[in-house]
Amino acid sequence: MTADPTRIAQLPTSPFVRLATLLEGVAPGAPPIALSVGEPQGPVPDFVGPILQRELAGFSKYPPIQGSDALRNAISGWLSRRFKLKEPVDPASAILPLNGTREGLFLSLFAIVPERKNGARPAVLLPNPYYQAYPSGALASGAEPIYVNALGETGFLPDYAALPEAVLRRTAAVFVASPSNPEGAVADLAWWKRLFALADRYGFVVLSDECYSEIWHETPPLGALEAAEALAQGRENLLVFNSLSKRSGLAGLRSGFVAGDPKLIAAYQALRAQAAPQVSGPLQAVSAHAWGDEAHVAVNQAIYRANFAIAAEELGNRPGFSLPAAGFFLWMKTGDSVGFARRMWAEQGLRALPGAYLASDSGVGTRSGNPGLDYVRIALVNGPETTRAALKRLASMA
Ligand SMILES: Cc1ncc(COP(=O)(O)O)c(C=O)c1O
Repeated sequence: MTADPTRIAQLPTSPFVRLATLLEGVAPGAPPIALSVGEPQGPVPDFVGPILQRELAGFSKYPPIQGSDALRNAISGWLSRRFKLKEPVDPASAILPLNGTREGLFLSLFAIVPERKNGARPAVLLPNPYYQAYPSGALASGAEPIYVNALGETGFLPDYAALPEAVLRRTAAVFVASPSNPEGAVADLAWWKRLFALADRYGFVVLSDECYSEIWHETPPLGALEAAEALAQGRENLLVFNSLSKRSGLAGLRSGFVAGDPKLIAAYQALRAQAAPQVSGPLQAVSAHAWGDEAHVAVNQAIYRANFAIAAEELGNRPGFSLPAAGFFLWMKTGDSVGFARRMWAEQGLRALPGAYLASDSGVGTRSGNPGLDYVRIALVNGPETTRAALKRLASMA
């Protein structure tokens, strides 16, 4: 009688809502420090203000849905430079600017998921832990999300090839997060080779979420376009998503893009023309500049490298601590994730996300269940001084 008939009612509850409930009424044990949200706290790059000022008149115009030539050219140029592509990504047919990648990770599934696949309800595979938009987009578009556990023993990457044939046959799309959130794991060429072979065999689309690609510590992470070119795979059924939120520390600009298979880009552009706002003209001008400039990215990278050096100093001896290959999160094994996150707040005023809230209890794989139960996610997005103060407090906890 009370069952809610809408698809939207099935979407998972946000981990931030669950954290707020967990900590409600609990007094912080020290002046609060937020380590929960992946929102870079670095400086706004110098070029943003002057470009906005110059482009002010653009706020009175509806921009074209496909974005400006200048922005798509800048994105294509960046993709070629960053991923050493011999074949550039065609700015006219293979790139679509987005208002941040979250909308694309959610909404592009509507242009991909069929009513039925091989006579069954379509499935969308995703890593568990996951970014909220993956299962939400799957459910809202009518597919079944399959949470595939990314476990320490498989390098914190999901093993999609180990899924049953019956699931793979009805798979319409697969999410890849590399570098992953929260673990900071990076897929190598061998991993991509297995995934592309699976995609070809079962005819599914690969959705590669690469928004942490510029937050790395030693080696720039491999991207899906780079892997596809190295493996002579082509770009059919492949979409990559990237964003200025992490790379440029411009989360509030809401600017990202999707690039890849022109057939999928055209379908998604047609959907966006009805369902999503164009990217604002002046913000496109800022974005075009940001994709063409690496100096401000280096400033951000230096902050994260300093933070991770501090983490190694303060927590290096702690069991359960390890440095990620990329990204700005620590994925720390503490046991009892919910209890530990509550204690971090109550004893030390540190607000961090329990790993259990970032993953589904229905995870499948060599070990089923929730793979985040023993972990907390700590976002190292503050300046080095705040980071050291926070991690000293954390280190003092038993
Ligand atoms: C894994 C992952 N993908 C995508 C996004 C979305 O980023 P944006 O919409 O700001 O581009 C985030 C943001 O936190 C994220 O962590």
